[in-house]
Amino acid sequence: MILLRNLSIAGLLATILFVCATVCFAEPADNPAQSGGGDPVTGKFESGLCKGCHGAEGISFVDLIPNLAGQNAAYTAKQLRDFQSGVRTHQIMSAISRSITATEVADISAFFSGLKIMQGDGSGDNTAAEKLFRNGDPARGMPACMGCHGENGKAPVKATYPVIGGQHGEYLRVQLFHFRGGDRSNSTDGIMSKAAIKLTDDEIDALSGYLSGR
Ligand code: HEC
Ligand code: HEC
Repeated sequence: MILLRNLSIAGLLATILFVCATVCFAEPADNPAQSGGGDPVTGKFESGLCKGCHGAEGISFVDLIPNLAGQNAAYTAKQLRDFQSGVRTHQIMSAISRSITATEVADISAFFSGLKIMQGDGSGDNTAAEKLFRNGDPARGMPACMGCHGENGKAPVKATYPVIGGQHGEYLRVQLFHFRGGDRSNSTDGIMSKAAIKLTDDEIDALSGYLSGR
């Protein structure tokens, strides 16, 4: 009995420590209003419109349609708002985004972020791409991708930064070309445009293959 009681106190302490580790030391979202505080349960129902393309589990079956599973909710919500306002444009998504409300944006983003995170198949290994991803290229003044997107592109340092590891390669490739060419310019202060501006075609191909395999 005493042993049991001690055990449950130990369990309680562990729970408190665990909760504290996730709550007390969690990095605050860039802007609490932006991370949405959406309701993932409602979001599941509201995402009916999205599933045909992005997949019921947030994994799409078409290379040019991005996976949304495990994506940062604040990032997804920002993209939807950018499509709504026209800061980011795409024939399909510009129209679809305007058919949902601000509450639905928050709920749907929360739903997709809670799904099992997108996962690559381990392919695309490439030493040059990995080096560029991890270290950037100081000689050309290029920052390390990992500094913002985290280990394997799966641990973005801010809530509004995307998971890119395990994303479809062809989708990543198109986005990098768009950032470099200026067709996509919606990153805050142009940080992603600056990161892509000096990439060569070969580097974009290699990085996309490498990242999609993570
Ligand atoms: C008919 C297919 C289709 C439907 C339906 C659709 N999408 Fe998309 N979605 C796309 C395509 C294609 C892209 C890629 C856009 C680009 O290349 O810029 C995209 C991109 C996105 C992105 C950007 C992801 C990123 O990584 O930056 C988000 C977020 C998104 N869609 C959310 C939604 C939501 C939420 C719904 C439902 C309300 C939805 N989509 C419905 C096809 C679709
Ligand atoms: C200084 C921070 C920073 C660096 C360095 C950086 N990124 Fe990004 N990246 C971002 C942010 C922020 C976004 C989201 C922009 C937005 O709001 O649409 C982004 C978006 C992307 C996207 C689009 C993802 C999607 O789902 O549409 C890709 C692909 C990408 N980055 C790849 C890279 C690669 C490859 C490198 C290295 C060559 C890199 N990034 C370096 C911050 C960075």
